[in-house]
Amino acid sequence: MTPRIRHLVSVDDLSVAEIRELFSVARGFSEDIRAHANLCRGLISASLFFEPSTRTRLSFESSMLRLGGGVLTAAEMTSLSSAKGESLADTVRVVSGAYADLVVLRHPSEGAARLAAETASVPVINAGDGSHEHPTQTLCDLYTLWIEKGHIEGLDVVLAGDLRYSRTIHSFVYALARFGANIVCVPHRGFELPEYVVRRLREEYGAEPMRADASELGALAAESDVVYMTPQKPHQLSLFTDSRGLRVGRVDAVYMTRPQTERHGQDNAGELRTYMRLGQESMAAEPLREAVVMHPLPRRDEISSDLDDDPRSIYFKQAARGVPIRMAILALFLGRIQLEARPVEAVPSLFPIRAGTSPCPNPSCISHTEVRHVRQAFKLTSRDPLRAACGYCSQEIPFGLVGCTTTRHFHPLDSPSARKIRPDHLVLFRDLEQATALGFSAATR
Ligand code: NCD
Repeated sequence: MTPRIRHLVSVDDLSVAEIRELFSVARGFSEDIRAHANLCRGLISASLFFEPSTRTRLSFESSMLRLGGGVLTAAEMTSLSSAKGESLADTVRVVSGAYADLVVLRHPSEGAARLAAETASVPVINAGDGSHEHPTQTLCDLYTLWIEKGHIEGLDVVLAGDLRYSRTIHSFVYALARFGANIVCVPHRGFELPEYVVRRLREEYGAEPMRADASELGALAAESDVVYMTPQKPHQLSLFTDSRGLRVGRVDAVYMTRPQTERHGQDNAGELRTYMRLGQESMAAEPLREAVVMHPLPRRDEISSDLDDDPRSIYFKQAARGVPIRMAILALFLGRIQLEARPVEAVPSLFPIRAGTSPCPNPSCISHTEVRHVRQAFKLTSRDPLRAACGYCSQEIPFGLVGCTTTRHFHPLDSPSARKIRPDHLVLFRDLEQATALGFSAATR
C-alpha cells in the first residue's frame, strides 16, 4: 500500500507534540542556517500564489534553497493558465508530480488548499486560503512566542483588529487553545471572530468565549466594545475574574492585525475610519506594559513606527523566524526528517452533501467556483445538537431537518432518531419543502 500523502491544510493537521518537536528542529536549523544545504537536494517545491505575498512566499523559497532544493514560482495568477480559465484542480494536478515534489499554495477562496490536497500527488502546504486558515504563519507565531517566552501554555494573548477576516487569527486561535494559552479577543467593532470559529473553540477545544470590559485594555480597546476570553483551565479563570465579573489582568502578548480590506464588502469603509492602533501610549497601559507586540505583517498604520525599536516589539523577528520554521516544515513534509511525536489521529471524515439540499453558505468557498472538481461534502462537527460544517471552508451549513437515505424519512433535529442516522446516510435539508420536494416523508412511529 502506498503511504498516505500528508498535507498541511489546517493547523490541526499537526499534533501539539509534533509542533513542539518542529520548534526544536527549527531552532537547530537557525543555529547555522547555511549548514543544511544537502537535506532537500534534488527536490523541487512549487509556489502557486494566486494572491500577493512578500514574507510567506519569499521565506518558503529561501527555506527550500537553504535546504539545497529548487523552487518554481508562479507568483501572479495572470502568468498562469488560470487566466485562460483553467481550474485550480487541473493546475495543481499538472504541477504536482513531474514538475514539483511539494506545492505551496495561496489562494483567495476558502477551502482552496483542501481541494488542492485532494487533487495533488505530492504534499500541499496551505499558505493562506481566503479568510480561512494560514497554518504556517501560525507555526511561525507560536515558534516566536516559544522562543521569547519559553512556553505557550498559560500565556495570556490579546488578539486585536480584524478578527473576522484574518486567516492568521483563525489558525492562531485554534492552536493557542490547543496549547492551553488564554485568548483575549479585542476585535475592531464589527470584525469579531466568526461564529463558526467561536463555536469550534468552544465545542472542539473546550475554550469558552466570554465577554469582558474592554476598557481594561486601555487605549487599544477604546474603539472596541467586545472582549472575549477563553481561559483554558479553570484555575486560570481567576486571572481574569473579579467581583464584577471578568477583568483583564496583565497580558503576555498583543497580536495586531491589519484590516483585511481585500475581503471586505463595500459597506465596511465607515467602520474602518476608527481602526484600532497600537503605539507607545497604548503600550503604557497597565495590562500591556510587559506584553510583546506581534503582527503577521504587512502592517498599515495599526502599529505605530514609534514601537519599532521598542524591545517589546517582535514583529520583525517573527518574519525572520519564518525561515527556520519553514525549513522544518519543508523537511518534514518532503519526508527528509522524521519526528518522534505521534501525528494527529485521522483527519475528520467528509460526507457527501446530496444534490438539491443545503449547500455551503459561504459565497467565497472554493466549492462554489470549482463546481466540477469539488465533491460537495460536509463534516459532522457535533452529534448533539446536530451540526455540520463545509468540508472545504469549515463554515457551518444551516439546516432545519435531516433525512436518511435508506429509509427516505425526514426527522426534526432534536429527535433521537435524527441523531442515530449514520453520517454517510445523512441528508441535510433547509426545510420541509426541500425534504418533500426530494421525495422524503415524515417518519411514522
Ligand atoms: C498575512 C496573510 O497573508 O494572511 N500575511 C502573511 O502571510 N504574513 C497577514 C495579512 O495579510 O494581513
